[in-house]
Amino acid sequence: MNKQIEAALNDQISKEASSSQYYLAMASWAETKGLSGTAFFMYAHSDEERFHMLKLVKFVNERGGRAIVPSITQPPSDFDTVQRMFELLLAHELTVTQSINEVVDICLKEKDYTTHNFMQWYVSEQMEEEALARSILDKLNLIGNEKGGMYLFDREMLEIANSSANAQKNNG
Ligand code: FEO
Repeated sequence: MNKQIEAALNDQISKEASSSQYYLAMASWAETKGLSGTAFFMYAHSDEERFHMLKLVKFVNERGGRAIVPSITQPPSDFDTVQRMFELLLAHELTVTQSINEVVDICLKEKDYTTHNFMQWYVSEQMEEEALARSILDKLNLIGNEKGGMYLFDREMLEIANSSANAQKNNG
């Protein structure tokens, strides 16, 4: 495997691992605030990020490179408000998208069309994740500080997490 591509993919492995930790911290925070639906959503999101990492690890190794398992850095443990937490989530996903785009760019420069093709899955995944984060923030903006609204929001987060888990099951 081309060394530059291998390094870029290892860097992405590290970013996906950090994302998984970050959302795990958000899940834990939401759980301690009694927001069980939001916590469920974040636990599921953390698992998805681990899956994104694993998919890269396997690809690098199968293509003759060597995937490096990154060290764990401690994410924040307090997120102030649900709104703030989702703002951070969206900001984080935007940096991940940028980094995916950089990997795609390197693939094109190095004429590695196999990895380029593999990375397209991540490109669409990022589009979906950004859109979901934006729609959740829109809901939160509508709710404002209403307590009853937050209760309904939390229930809806549970539904969103369940329906995305079912969609993934049906897609194999
Ligand atoms: Fe794997 Fe949310 O980026």
